[in-house]
Amino acid sequence: MINHKRWAIHYDEDRNYDPLTAQIILNYCSPSNNIKILDFGCGTGNYLKFFSKFNQFELFGIDPSEDMLEIARAKCNDINIQKGDHANIPFEDNTFDIVYMIDVIQHINNNHMLFSQIHKILKNNGILFVLTISHDQLNKRPWNKFFKEAFNVQCSRFPHINNLIQIAQSNKLYHENTIIIEEQRTEFIPRSFLNIAKNKEYSFFYLISEEDYRNGISLLQKAIEQKQTWEYIHGETMLIFKKAMT
Ligand SMILES: C[S@@+](CC[C@H](N)C(=O)[O-])C[C@H]1O[C@@H](n2cnc3c(N)ncnc32)[C@H](O)[C@@H]1O
Repeated sequence: MINHKRWAIHYDEDRNYDPLTAQIILNYCSPSNNIKILDFGCGTGNYLKFFSKFNQFELFGIDPSEDMLEIARAKCNDINIQKGDHANIPFEDNTFDIVYMIDVIQHINNNHMLFSQIHKILKNNGILFVLTISHDQLNKRPWNKFFKEAFNVQCSRFPHINNLIQIAQSNKLYHENTIIIEEQRTEFIPRSFLNIAKNKEYSFFYLISEEDYRNGISLLQKAIEQKQTWEYIHGETMLIFKKAMT
């Protein structure tokens, strides 16, 4: 099980907003003022902090984890950040021009409920962004060779892309676009990744077995001492949906 307190404490050590992901969202924002944006599963508030530089946005965040919320509120003290999740969204219907979910879908246990609730809080023509990882992209994560259970654990959490699109569409969120974000990386296996693993900064470390975790840490340590490299394609998938006029 994920230890939410420990996860929140270490979350920001190696993570921040991703400029490319933020730019995709910005490209869909009209230049008009007062665009209402909800960061759904805002975590420690890195994206909210970035978007707060733009004064045409009215920003909101929700997350179910008090530990994440505490960090997000300290970072973004003038933003309306509330406790909530897909079953309990504390906002009125037809409120938002944009809702985005970055790296959250794998935590949701009922995507029908999620999309039907998001459909309600979006305005007509409102846009939903879902940043996720396809199974093919998960298969290319370089740590799979150290943590043998990681790929299967992640596949059981991340929905197939086509399933997600189908469920969203059945809840009247129409698929506008899919953007594949991929980057070829070749580097010495970074010592910082060992810290990420030791601190369980990625939630899957809580979900693999203790044996696989310990074994992976020891393999990783050896590989770093031997100055091994890893070469891989880092990939994510942005799905963009629109609430059609009703
Ligand atoms: C990997 S973090 C991503 C945080 C943030 N979006 C970011 O990109 O930095 C996943 C977040 O989803 C939140 N979460 C888990 N279950 C959720 C749910 N049912 N509804 C909304 N958020 C949820 C977690 O508390 C956590 O903060």
